Amino acid sequence: MNIGIDKIGFYVPKDYIDIVELAKARDVDPNKFTIGIGQDKQAVPFPYQDAVTMAASSADSILTAEDKKDLGLLIVGTESSVDESKSTAAFLMDLLDLPEDIRSFEIKQACYGATAGLQTAYDFVSNNPGKKALVIATDIARYGIKTPGEVTQGAGSVAMIISQDPRVLKLDHKSVYMTRNVGDFWRPTFSKTAFARGKFSNEVYVDFFQTLWNKYQAKYDVTADDFSTMLFHIPYTKMGTKALRTLEGKVSDAKYAELTKHYQASIKFSRAVGNLYTGSLYLGLLSYLVNAAKAGEEVLFFSYGSGAVGELYSGQIQADFEKVIDKKALQKIIDDRQKMTIDDYERIYQVEYQDGTIVDPKTITEKFYLSEIKENERLYKKLK
Ligand code: COA
Repeated sequence: MNIGIDKIGFYVPKDYIDIVELAKARDVDPNKFTIGIGQDKQAVPFPYQDAVTMAASSADSILTAEDKKDLGLLIVGTESSVDESKSTAAFLMDLLDLPEDIRSFEIKQACYGATAGLQTAYDFVSNNPGKKALVIATDIARYGIKTPGEVTQGAGSVAMIISQDPRVLKLDHKSVYMTRNVGDFWRPTFSKTAFARGKFSNEVYVDFFQTLWNKYQAKYDVTADDFSTMLFHIPYTKMGTKALRTLEGKVSDAKYAELTKHYQASIKFSRAVGNLYTGSLYLGLLSYLVNAAKAGEEVLFFSYGSGAVGELYSGQIQADFEKVIDKKALQKIIDDRQKMTIDDYERIYQVEYQDGTIVDPKTITEKFYLSEIKENERLYKKLK
């Protein structure tokens, strides 16, 4: 049975800061941020947005009534959860008008969560032919103002429908994975911002990629020549570049040039949005689909979540992907955003809603929003 991604959509907040302006405000050479880190813009969510509202928005962009009827599984991958008990998935039931006969839960393993969701969805569809699964990655990446990680922040959500006879990407059901207890990045429950040993994290990430790539080649008797594209987890675009560069001199010059060209197409959206944590790899897939993908291409995916879990798996771009991927509409989401000043970003960053807060819908420009906090319970609404 062919199983994979039948639809994929994303959501990013409508406001962003310009990375050159951020560099100037932090008294840093802009080239460090645009070349050294590899970012141009950073999405900034409003306080009435969170992992729930962004997940609702990305899923809403792809779900039809027929999809909802066939859904049997909903998995949300996030490390920006709003509740230690109730899952983000449960909040979505009303916002998305989903039927009750759905198994739903949230997965956390740093930026690996959505891949865990995708592989679980594969198994679900394979065991329940005809049913569909909705996998959503949703996160707000926060390191704090004036921290080294600030330039690698971002926010957004990617939603995917996994089904039989997928129209976007058929999963090959070939993968290798690994887990190690590593202290490269963590966010204790008391903290809204992450702690990272950034350079160490780069080293672990590259080591995981190399280890898994060696395993994958041995297990499936393949080489780089069997893939036209490699997509990487891209918390900031320089990080994927570091993994890709390990192939230089080990594969033919022509293959390396092809992989590099395709990698550049896959990072366009991330350069303009920033870190989506667990959605980053899948924003890379979207960027690639919009900017360069060809039907029939074999694609290798490197998923990495600090702490740390890594997985390398592959899939094939399907013949009809252009019928499901509205390239213009997806590009428009990136283009139709407005720039926020660094002062406004810093002001909004500090705002934290407390119990009793009621948000005036007249001030909202988004379809889904946090409307109220009552007895410490977060209540959400959808603009009619
Ligand atoms: N022009 C061009 N490049 C420049 C530059 C300039 N003027 N100044 C510095 N650079 C380059 C550096 O050479 C370096 O490149 P390299 O990584 O290829 O060596 C890069 O910019 C970053 O410089 P560095 O001094 O290492 O930056 P930093 O100490 O501010 O830290 C991070 C950068 C990425 C480590 C930090 O932002 C961070 O910790 N981010 C979070 C990491 C993370 O998200 N981890 C989890 C992901 S799974």
